This record gives sequence, structure tokens and C-alpha cells, in this order.
Amino acid sequence: MRRVFLDAGPMVHFANATSLSGQVLQNASEFIHDPGMGIVVEEDTIIQISESEILKEEYDSSTQDFDVISLGGSAIIPGLIDSHTHLLWEGDRSFEVSMKRNGLSYQEIAERGGGIGYTVNQTNQASAEQIYLTGKNRLKSSLLNGTTHLEAKSGYGLTTEAECRLLAIMNNLNNESELPSIDLTWMGAHAIPKNHNLKSYVEEILSEQLPSVLEQGYAKNADVFCEPGWFDLESTEDILKSASKGGLHKRLHIDEFEDGDGGKLASDLEVVTADHAYHTSEENRIKMNDNNVNAGFLPGTPFSQGEKEFPPFQHYINQNWKWTIATDFNPNCQTLSLPFIGSLLVQRNHIHPLAALAACTVHAADISPHPSGKGHGTIEKGSLANFNILKNDNWESWCLTPGHSPIAGTVLEGNMIIH
Ligand code: NIG
Ligand code: FE
Repeated sequence: MRRVFLDAGPMVHFANATSLSGQVLQNASEFIHDPGMGIVVEEDTIIQISESEILKEEYDSSTQDFDVISLGGSAIIPGLIDSHTHLLWEGDRSFEVSMKRNGLSYQEIAERGGGIGYTVNQTNQASAEQIYLTGKNRLKSSLLNGTTHLEAKSGYGLTTEAECRLLAIMNNLNNESELPSIDLTWMGAHAIPKNHNLKSYVEEILSEQLPSVLEQGYAKNADVFCEPGWFDLESTEDILKSASKGGLHKRLHIDEFEDGDGGKLASDLEVVTADHAYHTSEENRIKMNDNNVNAGFLPGTPFSQGEKEFPPFQHYINQNWKWTIATDFNPNCQTLSLPFIGSLLVQRNHIHPLAALAACTVHAADISPHPSGKGHGTIEKGSLANFNILKNDNWESWCLTPGHSPIAGTVLEGNMIIH
């Protein structure tokens, strides 16, 4: 089936975008089509982008084997890519807010029975059907906010059986049509379960959990919470090296609460992306960039924790270093809205809205490929037909309505979904 979308407003396409440095941003118009363009889609792929007037002649109504849809002058942006989420878990940790108000840190809350350990108990008590339904509702909410693809991690099971169960549920969700596609990550090394110490859990991961995950074959990536008090540098290296031997792509959580030298390990191991990276030293940031390691910033986390400092986005833009943004959706940071994360950059940190958009589209595609193998995160000939129709005719409106979604409709793998 062919679909012809006509009369777009300004369209951010990001064709041939490499890194959006300060200088490139001065020529932002290079990445934005003027109003009046149209997009032709064949099945799930964009096959042509031309002036609407030309397409109107080409697709006159005498032949009937195509649909014509007017975009009514709305601004168009690529499908958003959420390259870091903890999608599946059960229970609620709202009680932690009073602990935070009493001055307890994330670590202290975890030591007192909250944190990841609490969510692991709640998740493991829930049925697979319940977790599937929760996941499906979350994916719908993600799509309403313009996300067409997301990376999702296990990590709230922490036994071989429970981690494999979460990955199997994610795999089933990935087979649902009309929902964002999923890039599956195994994160058994998310916390140390109660009946283990670091050494015994790492042994179990290496001898039992990881082999089972590899045999199951659903996960494409491995991630470790590399942080003082959680997984140290040595265990992280052992786990990621074994995972990599098994064919998984390497990812890391680093330096979330303090500089634990995670940036150096990330660059030594040449991981795809090292996320959080709040306290990473400048020396290690340079190393990461030299080794082509992406910095995955998750500004929803400092926002949820009530911190005043955000990562140095502008420094990254000025240096022309690789970076992305994502929601980090988890019980402690409950947003699945990339437009909200964009608002934190643009309205709180004065970042150029095009740089913020690139960080969750074209750049995010580099670290979270689409399962089909097709290109995404851009609107160009040959890429997947994943794009968003905004409620307004200014493309900048994608990140200026933090309390509600700026998206009127989404074309997901060629299918039009009206929100
Ligand atoms: O990325 N830091 C580790 N994992 C999550 C938080 C998980 C949780 O608090 O449940 C994160 O922020
Ligand atoms: Fe995370």
C-alpha cells in the first residue's frame, strides 16, 4: 500500500546529519525543509520526498491504489527514539519522596529497603500477564509522546529465571503491531540481590544467568550499573567482556552519583554508550569521545532527584562530541515523554531545540538501531516511515509543552496513528 502525505509544514529531516556542533547549528535550515513538502510511503518505507504540488500531479485521483493524506501545514519531525529505558517493573515507590525530603540519598533509601531491591520484589511477585499489560500501556504512552522506537532493559528480576522472563515479555511486546519497536537489553547486573554478595552474584551471572540469556537469544545488548556501591570496575569489565564474547553490544550506566572512573572503563571497553555520566571527569569524557563512546544523558534523573545541576550539554555541542538524551524511565523517574526531556534541555538549560531533537532522533539511532535493519531517526528516501505530525506549525513546539504531548499523530512504520 502506498500513502502520499501532502502539505507538510516545516519538516525537520536530519538527512546527512553527522554531529550537530555549534557551527552546524548556525545553519540549522540545512536540516529543515520549508513548508509545502510531501512524503510518499510504500509499506513501511519512505520512497520519495518532493514538493506537494509535484506529488499532486503525479498522484491524481484517476488511479486508486494509494491513499492521499493532508498534513494541513503541521510541522513534522522524525519518530523519536528513546535510547535508555527500564520499561518493565511492577509496584510503586512514591513513599520514597518523604525519605528524600528527610534528606536521605538514593543509596540510603536503597539500604533502608527502597530502591531497586523493593521493585525487584514487587516485579517478581507479579504474573507475566500483568507485566505484559503494564508494558503495553507504557508503550502506548510512549507512542502518544512521539516515540516510535525504544531501548528497554531487564534488571528487575535479578535471578536467571526472572531476568529471562522479563526478556521474553519484552520480546512478546516487540511483536505487537501499532506500538513502538524495542531494542532489548539484558541488565542482570542492575543491583546485588539480597541472598548474594557482589562476588557470588557476579559468579552466578557469569556461570548461569548470562549463558541462559544468550541461549534464549532475545537480548541484543548488555548493560551494567557500574557505580561505587553497586558493580565495581573489575566486575563490570568481567561481565561486559563475557557478554561481548556472546555477541551482545556493550552499554554502561556510569558515574551517576560520583566519579567512579566509569568513563575510563567505558572508553577502554569501547562500549556503544555510557549513560548518566554526570560526574565523569573531563579527562574521561575526552577519552570516551576519542574511542567513539556516546555519552547518554538522562536529565529526567537529576530532575526527579531534585538536583540543580544538569549535564554539560552545551560543552558537548561546542566540542562536537557524541551525545544523546533519553527518558531513563524507571520507578524513580517516571516519564516516557521525550518532549518533556527536550523541555528540560531547551527551557531549563537553554540548548538549541534542534540539538535537543537530534539527540533523541538521528544520534539516538546510532546507538539503538531498528530491529528491521532499516534507517530511522531521519526523514529521507529509504528510511523507515516513522515520523510525527505536531499540533502546531512551528517545529520548535516539539519540546515546549512539558505537561502534555505536542504530537497530533504519528506515522509508525507507514501506518497513520491519530492521537
Ligand atoms: O538508571 N541507576 C540505575 N538504574 C536506574 C534507576 C533504577 C531504580 O531506581 O529503580 C537509573 O537511574
Ligand atoms: Fe537507567
